[in-house]
Parts: sequence; structure tokens; C-alpha cells
Amino acid sequence: ADYDVIIPAAGSGKRMGAGMNKLFLEVNKRPLIAYTAEVFLKDPHCRKVILPVQPHDIENMKHVLGNMPNVEKIFFAEGGSERQYSVRNGLELAEKGGVILVHDGARPFISAKIISELANVAAEKGAAIAAVPVKDTIKRAKNHIVTETIERSSLWQVQTPQAFRAPLLKQAHETAERDGFLGTDEASLVERIGHIVHIVMGSYDNIKITTPEDLYFAEAIFKKLAG
Ligand code: C5P
Repeated sequence: ADYDVIIPAAGSGKRMGAGMNKLFLEVNKRPLIAYTAEVFLKDPHCRKVILPVQPHDIENMKHVLGNMPNVEKIFFAEGGSERQYSVRNGLELAEKGGVILVHDGARPFISAKIISELANVAAEKGAAIAAVPVKDTIKRAKNHIVTETIERSSLWQVQTPQAFRAPLLKQAHETAERDGFLGTDEASLVERIGHIVHIVMGSYDNIKITTPEDLYFAEAIFKKLAG
């Protein structure tokens, strides 16, 4: 299915501690955001690539993305103080119908195959997210005392892209905003309004670059995918 993608790219990179937007950090001498954007710019099913960015980053973003294929698909939106607000600002530039994907700028190794599966499932069923089975045992704790061990076989580690029919995603955002609800992903907003969310198998390569050691993993994944 054809789709628009919103790539939130307006984070401050606090956990990375680089003192700048982490999306400008490089893997194999190329900024992370270039990898992420390229996958979508090259996809013929992708109509628009909407990038919420902080005003002070726009110049550099244009510089980094300027000579990529199909740059005319790129639209900049204003970044928000929270990821959810960045996505909301991006939504205003998206088509009213069809499918919208939301994908973290900080996940450079997303595959075209997963994107296409998500867009198709969302077109047919309304909402689909990429996720992989959790490998570690996950426990709940309070003040460093374990209160619960959650059965691992039912746990999924959720990634992006997350794909939705456009009106559903808009309604979910509007309801969250009205209620003052802040979620860490789009699907949680859609779940809140009672809509079913389908899981599509993601990839363990599809990591989110968050803290400094992730850059070492990213170099390794890059080499694997390039080789
Ligand atoms: O901080 P984290 O890595 O979880 O952010 C996920 C994505 O959301 C990143 O690509 C980041 O640039 C983006 N973001 C945003 N606006 C914010 C915070 C994060 O666009 N206020």
C-alpha cells in the first residue's frame, strides 16, 4: 500500500550525551538520519517523507539530505518538546486518507520488506507495529525490590515503523491531546481508543540508537548489511 511516513527527528540526544542531535552522528562516515531517510526516499510506495525537526537543526538537515534521491518527497515540520508532539506536528502535513507510517529517525537499519508488510497490514486492518520477541527476562520492581516476573513468552519488544490508517492515527492523537495523555509510541494512543493493533515481525537489526554503545552495535550491523 502507498503511504506517507513521519520520521520524528527532533530529539535532544540527552541519553547519547553528544551535545547535539544524535541523528547527525555518523556510522561509516555518514549521518544516521541519511540512512533512515534513504530507505523511504527510495521506496516507490512512499509518497511523502515528513521530518519534524528543531528549527536550529533545519539547515544541517537540508545539507545532509540535500543530495539524496527523490529529495522532493521531503517536507519539514516543527519539532515538539516531546516525541508525541513532534509526530502530531508532522501529521498536519500528511495526506488525509491512506496509510501513515511513523518511524524513529534513530532506527537507521529498517528494511524495505518490513515497511511494505506494515503498510499492507495497516491498509487492511487499521494498525500494525513492528516488534520482536523479548530475549531477556523482564521483572517489575519497586525501590530495587522485585515485585513481579512477567511471563516472557507473551512479551514483545516494540520498534518502529508503526503503521495506521490516517483517520485512525489522527483520532488517536486528538483524543490523547484532549486527555493530556503522553505515550511513548503511537500504538499506545490507538490502543487507548479501543482499536486493535497487529504485530508484524520486526528485526533485531532494527535497533534504536539511544546511548553511546549503540554506535558500536550500529557499525557492526552496518558491516553485516553492507557485506
Ligand atoms: O529519544 P528517542 O531515541 O526515544 O526518540 C525517538 C525518536 O524521536 C528520535 O528519532 C528523536 O529524534 C525523535 N524525537 C522527536 N522529538 C522529541 C523527542 C524525540 O522528534 N521531542
